[in-house]
Amino acid sequence: MPRPVIVVARQLPPLFMDAIASLGEVRVFDATAPAQSLEGASVWLGSAVDALTADRIASFPDSIGLIANIGVGTDNIDLNAAAKRRLQISNTPVVTEDTADLAMALLLATCRRLSASERLLREGDFAAGAGQQGIRVHGKTLGIVGFGAIGQAVARRASGFAMRVIYHGPRPRPEAEAVTGASFCEQLAQLLAEADIVSLHCPLTDATRHLFDAGTFAQMKAGAVLINTGRGALVDESALVDALAGNQLGGAGLDVFEFEPEVTPALKRFDNVTLLPHIGSATGECRADMAMRALANISAFLEQGRPLDGVTAA
Ligand code: DGY
Repeated sequence: MPRPVIVVARQLPPLFMDAIASLGEVRVFDATAPAQSLEGASVWLGSAVDALTADRIASFPDSIGLIANIGVGTDNIDLNAAAKRRLQISNTPVVTEDTADLAMALLLATCRRLSASERLLREGDFAAGAGQQGIRVHGKTLGIVGFGAIGQAVARRASGFAMRVIYHGPRPRPEAEAVTGASFCEQLAQLLAEADIVSLHCPLTDATRHLFDAGTFAQMKAGAVLINTGRGALVDESALVDALAGNQLGGAGLDVFEFEPEVTPALKRFDNVTLLPHIGSATGECRADMAMRALANISAFLEQGRPLDGVTAA
């Protein structure tokens, strides 16, 4: 029996490459690889930084049956184009707690101006660092947009910080409310009117692209803080810059960017903005879990014809 061919979108850490090699023949299909590298392959393995457009998917040979994504978000893949080709898609829904930790860290860092204070201290100006006045966290209302696994994990953490938590999503989640103490806002506008801090945890789709634009910012409380560990394009960054410049917002904590890996230069001007390079899942443990889960998906697909974590177009 010939070994199945697994195409990886880029070189991955050696341990991971070795583990994939235990499942089949591995070919690296990076920007320099000839198109025929895909011929005869059964699986394509990539991550959020590897865009699979409709054209790219159309160019896949018929042999490919699974797109295995390392990461929970699949907005890098044109899901409708994949469905037309009857390609299965899997993700790695094992990033929940690490991403929620980072969202909470970003919330605290932004409200308490950790980046600015630390920068001033490192520059030798202890007094100026000590003089930074942040925004109190406890007792404030946190509005969570998107109340899936990660949004709920953030709610659990926020209640430990004595915050009131409200959320908006497609439907109420009574079972999660019982655990987190969060309450449902049917309308986003209601959440925006009440929240002191808004944290984004919804997937990026055509419906949620630029969910936060000038109109949305205008509905937020004056001085509210925006936290985004979801996807950059949920936010219109040019409108965000205007909202910060006009002091409509009191700060922003961003782990993801509209034009990633580019960061809108104007965002770097604000002292009340914390910028991180998409590190929600960047713990050694979480990255290992993601790698193992991607392998388990590939293995299940090769053995039983279906991955464990199948994703379908909405
Ligand atoms: C995810 O799992 O989607 C993270 O954002 C890493 O891409």
